[in-house]
This record gives sequence, C-alpha cells and structure tokens, in this order.
Amino acid sequence: MRISGLLEGETDQVARMAGAVAVLHGTMPHFFWTGFYRVVGAGLVIGPYQGTPGCARIGWGRGVCGTAWKTGESQVVADVHEFPGHIACDARSESEIVVPVRDRSGTVVAVFDVDSEEKGAFDDIDREWLERILARLTC
Ligand code: SME
Repeated sequence: MRISGLLEGETDQVARMAGAVAVLHGTMPHFFWTGFYRVVGAGLVIGPYQGTPGCARIGWGRGVCGTAWKTGESQVVADVHEFPGHIACDARSESEIVVPVRDRSGTVVAVFDVDSEEKGAFDDIDREWLERILARLTC
C-alpha cells in the first residue's frame, strides 16, 4: 500500500500525517477536505490537510471533530445539517467522517476528518478502513 511506503522509516508525526493525507485525499473526487486536527493542550489545532482553508482551532466536544475526540468514537455523519453543533468551515460540506487517532497508550492524539460535498458519502466500511489505516499512523 502506498501509505505504508510513505510512512516507513519516518518517525515524525506531522510528516506521517502529511503523507497519509496526500494519499487519502487523492482517492476520492468528492472529498474536498481531508486532514488532521491535533490535540494540543485543551483543544484541537489544525494539522496537515488538503483542501480549502479549515478552522484553525476546535474545542473539546465542539462540532464533529470535537465530538470524536471527546467520545473516542468515529463519527459518520450522513447529513452535516442534522448534526447539532456542526462547524461549517466550508459551505459545500454535506457529509463528513471523523476518526480518532490514538497513540500506543490509547490516548486520542488527533482526529482525522474528511468532508464531502455529497450527502451520505461515508459508511461503516469507510469507517472500518480508515480506522485500520490510522491505527498504523502513530509510532
Ligand atoms: N466540520 C468540522 C470542522 C472541521 S472542518 O470541516 C475542516 C466539525 O464540525 O468538527
């Protein structure tokens, strides 16, 4: 897999995130934003991403990303307009998936967020595969 090749031998977390984003963003044409928010202190701070400008910081429990961080559970949102507190960084967003990224001790250290301009773009198979891929990201 291309991501494994990019990650091999690279121990810098931001470099690993940047490699993963570059590969995943290119896989689906209806993804307009693919990227990471990193846990920094009491909030999430934007990390490597591809797409239109995203919000720089998100609080604990805020929006889809903050909810994934707070609950430790992936969030598959078929219609972002139905998600209470959804943060609209780009008006084109219709659906979204956010997957927590954990370190070896199991602590959430980042979340991975993908936004689509199509409703219902993500399902449990996407969640499962993203969880598997992202489980190999931390080192
Ligand atoms: N929609 C996200 C915010 C991040 S951006 O979409 C890039 C949320 O509700 O957490």
